[in-house]
Amino acid sequence: MCGIVGYAGHRPAVEVVMSGLKRLEYRGYDSAGVAVVADGALDVRKKAGKLANLQAMLELDPMKDASTGMGHTRWATHGGPTDVNAHPHVSSGGRVAVIHNGIIENFAELVAELAADGIVMTSETDTEVVAHLLESTVERTGDLAEAMRAACLRLSGAFTLVALDAQDPGRLVAARRNSPLVVGIGEGEHFLASDVSAFIDYTRQAIELGQDQVVDLHAEGVTVTDFRGEPVEVSPFTVTWDASAAEKGGFDLFMLKEIAEQPKAVADTLLGRIAPDGLLRLDEVHIPVAELREVDKIVIVACGTAYHAGLVAKYAIEHWCRIPCEVELASEFRYRDPILTRRILVIAISQSGETMDTLMAVRHAREQGARVLAICNTNGSTIPRESDAVLYTQAGPEIAVASTKAFLTQIVAVYLVALYLAQVRGNKFGDEVAAIVGQLATMPHKVDLVLDTVEGVRALAQQFADASSVLFIGRHVGYPVALEGALKLKELAYMHAEGFAAGELKHGPIALIEDGVPVIVVVPPPQGRGVLHEKIISNIQEVRARGAVTIVIAEEGDDVVTPYADHLIRVPACPTLMQPLVSTVPLQVFACELATAKGHDVDQPRNLAKSVTVE
Ligand code: M6R
Repeated sequence: MCGIVGYAGHRPAVEVVMSGLKRLEYRGYDSAGVAVVADGALDVRKKAGKLANLQAMLELDPMKDASTGMGHTRWATHGGPTDVNAHPHVSSGGRVAVIHNGIIENFAELVAELAADGIVMTSETDTEVVAHLLESTVERTGDLAEAMRAACLRLSGAFTLVALDAQDPGRLVAARRNSPLVVGIGEGEHFLASDVSAFIDYTRQAIELGQDQVVDLHAEGVTVTDFRGEPVEVSPFTVTWDASAAEKGGFDLFMLKEIAEQPKAVADTLLGRIAPDGLLRLDEVHIPVAELREVDKIVIVACGTAYHAGLVAKYAIEHWCRIPCEVELASEFRYRDPILTRRILVIAISQSGETMDTLMAVRHAREQGARVLAICNTNGSTIPRESDAVLYTQAGPEIAVASTKAFLTQIVAVYLVALYLAQVRGNKFGDEVAAIVGQLATMPHKVDLVLDTVEGVRALAQQFADASSVLFIGRHVGYPVALEGALKLKELAYMHAEGFAAGELKHGPIALIEDGVPVIVVVPPPQGRGVLHEKIISNIQEVRARGAVTIVIAEEGDDVVTPYADHLIRVPACPTLMQPLVSTVPLQVFACELATAKGHDVDQPRNLAKSVTVE
């Protein structure tokens, strides 16, 4: 939700900032802008639309040389995606420029106050008030960092802010509350960014700015304080992946690359967590075993695709651990006053680790005394930092807005937690845990086998580019897979798509079926709970009888379904609980291909952003 880049060093700042924005464009892409100081004045350029529009503008009319600068790529909250509302915003006196990610919740009050001082807002954004607040202090004190601290104390809401003072070139000052910001440490140069991918080409040394902190950044160094000006100790970390992980690597789309990376992502998420005896070693989960033994309920909170991973995990947790498990949309969780105790383990699932709804759920759970375990893909992000423990998925950076490899690795990570709980609580014998871990270990190869067969899925998807609606049905873990398939199609192809529990159809949704409506069916393995398989065959017959065209995902060797499938997609045979790891993949490919056939920008679908840092 908005990408932020800042640079102070010895390179051409506009170049560094634009290359960083390119990497962060997945965070928001409805307008972009850059600011530098040249000849004692701010030079600010901004343009509505994708970054390419700004790039074209700069090619026609290049900015002046500077070695300090900042840039922004926006996902609009306050004010539409126009040139005027694009960031940076400049103060009324033209001295301070500011960029912002988040929402200033008390902006109306501040606008009224500024109006009383005769300041007229030129944009519809909440951000502009910050530029005016900063200028009023910096005019008095001459110190941008002091002005930033004073401004932050007046703001409520979520913000990452970066500011530039025309009279103090060579310096950037940034602050954060409830919104991400990392500092890159180079030699004679320093960087600011919403995430490390923006500066990974230049340095892998970074500092994650903590909550309510301000960083004062020059080419030669950085100083971090809290909002009151007290110095803060920082601990730099090294980014373990390299720049190629954040590039397309020969694929046309990040999404295609990330779909192809799934076998490795799953394998990496298992790596180092299985001992030679087949049992689990989750040393990184710093919740004492004695407390894990006392857990009497698990509540999973997450959003979007991560929520679907949680829904899949519920089946495994209850089956393996015999602990009741609820899965809740993080955006609803704290508003219903949930009953939470020390014996409840809350599992927060988030790829980015910055999703505001999930973060708020984590905070609420901890305030109420529950233990929180984060499942996260982004090292050092806010959700794991604010949780009691974290198990990282090892998917590598996920750039495409539509989540793919994160979903598979989230399922694997929660399965590891579930099996670990079953192991330490004695719900399963060691050999039983080892047997299931053995099944998990075969999954990277099985996902690879699915990838070998996706050409057929691509061809099939193109046939449905004109469908007005696509329905997805599944049972047991196939139900959340159906929800995930529908979400992918909605967000990428902008089509009406719904996922249903197959048994629910006859309670209403079957009225949607008419001649030619495509229904994608996720068929459970016949050798699993046999009854599930029989039931879904009946459900397929029900929709076919009403004119649906069925696209059936079923495992190799399941010949019973063949007569009921207008189109058949085969996946390798797996135990029931493992099937989501293979059956989701064709659905990802189907949505990606169908969106491509419709001419949509798959990596940057309209109205969306990768990381949703507002509630
Ligand atoms: O970063 P998170 O996992 O917390 O993100 C949660 C959702 O916003 C995310 O999964 C979203 O639904 C995806 N775009 C779906 O593909």
